[in-house]
Amino acid sequence: MPDYATFIGKIKQKTGIDLSLYKEAQMKRRLTSLYEKRGFRNFIDYYAAIHNDPALLEEFLDRMTINVSEFYRNAQRWEVLDKKIFPKLLSGNKKLKIWSAACSTGEEPYSLAMVLSSHVPLRDIAILATDLDAGVINRAKVGLYPERALKEVPPAVVNKHFVNEGHYYQVKDDIKRTVNFKQHNLLEDRYETGFDLIVCRNVMIYFTEEAKDQIYMNFSKSLKPGGILFVGSTEQIFNPAKYGFESEETFFYRKV
Ligand SMILES: C[S@@+](CC[C@H](N)C(=O)[O-])C[C@H]1O[C@@H](n2cnc3c(N)ncnc32)[C@H](O)[C@@H]1O
Repeated sequence: MPDYATFIGKIKQKTGIDLSLYKEAQMKRRLTSLYEKRGFRNFIDYYAAIHNDPALLEEFLDRMTINVSEFYRNAQRWEVLDKKIFPKLLSGNKKLKIWSAACSTGEEPYSLAMVLSSHVPLRDIAILATDLDAGVINRAKVGLYPERALKEVPPAVVNKHFVNEGHYYQVKDDIKRTVNFKQHNLLEDRYETGFDLIVCRNVMIYFTEEAKDQIYMNFSKSLKPGGILFVGSTEQIFNPAKYGFESEETFFYRKV
């Protein structure tokens, strides 16, 4: 569909976001239903409207990034992180450099801080947390969550690290202080290096094979030898050796 190609070009110019690196059928479906809901008939008319209306641009950005998250998502994997991965990483070095990439509203980096805080003092925890979407980063910094975001969190952790405010839960300040939120586009921006652990979950599913390939390559360069990449529970890497990884545990890869 040529008008989608034109739309991709214009969005890239306006926002720096390259939609051609996201799976096309899925993205097109999502955006088509959005513009139809707003009464537009094609991508060209929709772009013209976005261009002139910041609220429509905001809504578009909101829809193209899927922001669903929760604390301790796939709880068994967090158990492995706690019992196996952290003890091994900490046996070499007590101050780990950690990155939660595509962190959405903050559940993931805060979960990391909570789990790690049972191994080391909070003052030794520093987590970089990034996302493409500035809106979710602002919500992450506030750290207030509905009850459903906590359904996998062990009760002792809820008591220790959250303040209950009716149906909402506020992450305590000592945990919040361990996380540094920044905007970062995995497809465009420079990657920091020297990480012991990179957590990147439930975003690779949206990217094309070429984009994934580049991102895994970049993660590999960003990790120290022996560092770990923790991926989502539908995001197994089929040829880890290609990126210099070995499988450590299911959904955890070690940089050789
Ligand atoms: C489904 S959420 C995953 C959140 C969390 N990692 C988890 O597993 O619960 C996907 C996130 O990826 C972000 N995202 C999409 N494209 C991105 C990109 N190019 N660079 C960085 N983040 C991106 C979205 O804004 C969204 O917050």
